[in-house]
Amino acid sequence: MPVLPTGIVVPGLTMATAARSARMDRVLRPVHRWVWSDAGRRVRKLLVFADVETDGGRDILRAAEVTSDPLLRRLYLAHAIDELHHGALFRQRGAELLRASGGRASTVFNGNPLPGGHGLDDVSIEGEADARLLAFLHVAEKSAAGRFAIYRELVADDPTTRAIFDEIMRDEVFHMNYTYTQLTRISPRSYRRQVWLARVSRLWNRVVRLAAGVGALMGAAILMLLYFVLMPPFAWLARRAGKREPQGWAPVSARADARPTSQY
Ligand SMILES: [Fe+2]
Ligand SMILES: [Fe+2]
Repeated sequence: MPVLPTGIVVPGLTMATAARSARMDRVLRPVHRWVWSDAGRRVRKLLVFADVETDGGRDILRAAEVTSDPLLRRLYLAHAIDELHHGALFRQRGAELLRASGGRASTVFNGNPLPGGHGLDDVSIEGEADARLLAFLHVAEKSAAGRFAIYRELVADDPTTRAIFDEIMRDEVFHMNYTYTQLTRISPRSYRRQVWLARVSRLWNRVVRLAAGVGALMGAAILMLLYFVLMPPFAWLARRAGKREPQGWAPVSARADARPTSQY
């Protein structure tokens, strides 16, 4: 049971909880395995994580600047430092693997069909109340801790990357716990509702992203269909008209009114 720096003990929120929490990610485990099994995709994923963690760290740094609560300011600052450190770890490891592969990260199927570690890129600091932000961070950190638990198993062939996930997971569990504890402190009556709202908001963001992705795919499919259905008749008509045209040079009828500088 983790004891936070504030002296508050959080029941039930442990590394094991984190590992169990990512139910959907466990269902998608074969896809995660596919992503991590390829060296190119692995590098790309690590570099994407680096960006997400670094951006999240900057946002939380901003939260430390704008909050009026001195304890939260300290905790946000420690949190931001952790996230920036995670970004550096992922970037460094991604660069090492890229160098080891001779800079040959495959470009075919190297995308990531699944969301990244944190989802901290959804965070919005400006004008956000601490309670809402803490609820959002708690949900995001819990999800990240669960995902990183899966990733560390999938990189068993790479002890260095695995050790990075181990280190980061410990931090994520701390983030998950302190955000919850602080939420209960500053919003003792509505903390459950705040967490529920954060979950709904996160789910909604995913639905919107999924809809945008499906829309883009459908748009591409419809355009391709139009190309193959509408273009052939025009191509056929153009070819038929072309056959009627005389071959080679054709004499131009001499017109008295034609200007000497005219092309025709
Ligand atoms: Fe992190
Ligand atoms: Fe975190």
